[in-house]
Amino acid sequence: MYKRQLEYLGIAIGELATHSTFEETVYLLWNGRLPTRGELAEFEGKIRANYDLPPRIAELLAVMPKEAQPAHAIRTLISAMGLIDPKPNSTDLASIREKATRLLGVAPTLLAAFDRHRKGKALVAPNKTLSLAENFLYMLNGERPTPTMAKALDVCLVLHTDHGLNNSTFTARVIISTMSDIYSAITGAIGSLRGPLHGGANEGVMVMLGEIPSVGAAKGYVEEKLARKDKIMGFGHRVYKSYDPRATHLKVLAKQLAEDTGNISLYEKSSAIEEAMATAVAAKGIYPNVDFYSATTYHCIGLPLDLFTPMFVVGRIGGWSAHIIEQLSD
Ligand code: ACO
Repeated sequence: MYKRQLEYLGIAIGELATHSTFEETVYLLWNGRLPTRGELAEFEGKIRANYDLPPRIAELLAVMPKEAQPAHAIRTLISAMGLIDPKPNSTDLASIREKATRLLGVAPTLLAAFDRHRKGKALVAPNKTLSLAENFLYMLNGERPTPTMAKALDVCLVLHTDHGLNNSTFTARVIISTMSDIYSAITGAIGSLRGPLHGGANEGVMVMLGEIPSVGAAKGYVEEKLARKDKIMGFGHRVYKSYDPRATHLKVLAKQLAEDTGNISLYEKSSAIEEAMATAVAAKGIYPNVDFYSATTYHCIGLPLDLFTPMFVVGRIGGWSAHIIEQLSD
């Protein structure tokens, strides 16, 4: 097996995950270089200014069916942001950057607010002194997360924010290339990402881990599925025919969090699945992808299962917007 390196603008994602933040990474993607301290503070300020739930969107949220799936809810709410924009169709670069910043800042609020709405809990107003990752967990749970959990979510967002011309990014590019609008492009991209063969696979992985009763049962489970020609979620990639570099980092994070939160059996089951897959299908170039260890990571952070894919959406808005900016620049 040969190793692949994933870089954002020439910087290895491992470097960014360790030394940068999600906000700094998005700045890099939108501007082609890392920010100075001052530029980062200014960018964070602009994102945080958009944390609030717009009143008209709050009215819509209040009448949304509580049984709706969060992936459908965030797609609808992002689309609805276009209804309250007085100039939703502007595609000049200054407007696009402003709208992208608005969507980036408000997306965690939309998701946390929907989760609390469906559970019949009072909404938690955002705290603008917190980073995007920390503020999301604060709004979701009503209490500030530990620094370890906030950092873990931040790392997940960094690792998920961009990945070349994948299916959902392609969707966003196709939509904006008609000189349509950013709301349509991001809404379409969410629809693409939600599919179980793309970003929806992280939920499939968690379902699979739940179906496997013990570490010892993992091998038989995998063999049975492969014999039926079923896909094992969280494995395989259209581009990588080797280990997904994002999975390398998430595996380390998942192990640490699983140990810290008493979920080590999830990590051990995952390792056993990986071992069984290595024997069975590695010859075809099928290895863990980004979704495989992100399932255990998200579970340990305390996210409900059906928030896994919408969480991916929140991070990927940074990458989709970078591609939209690039598409419109040319
Ligand atoms: N489990 C078992 N076998 C697999 C898997 C898997 N996850 N993925 C591919 N294969 C097998 C196929 O059955 C096929 O076998 P065959 O040659 O005997 O018919 C061979 O590997 C090639 O499969 P393709 O579907 O042609 O591979 P492709 O590169 O087109 O598909 C995809 C990539 C869609 C990601 C596929 O690997 C898959 O469905 N994986 C499971 C879903 C998943 O984890 N998706 C997340 C991807 S990462 C992301 O989008 C963020």
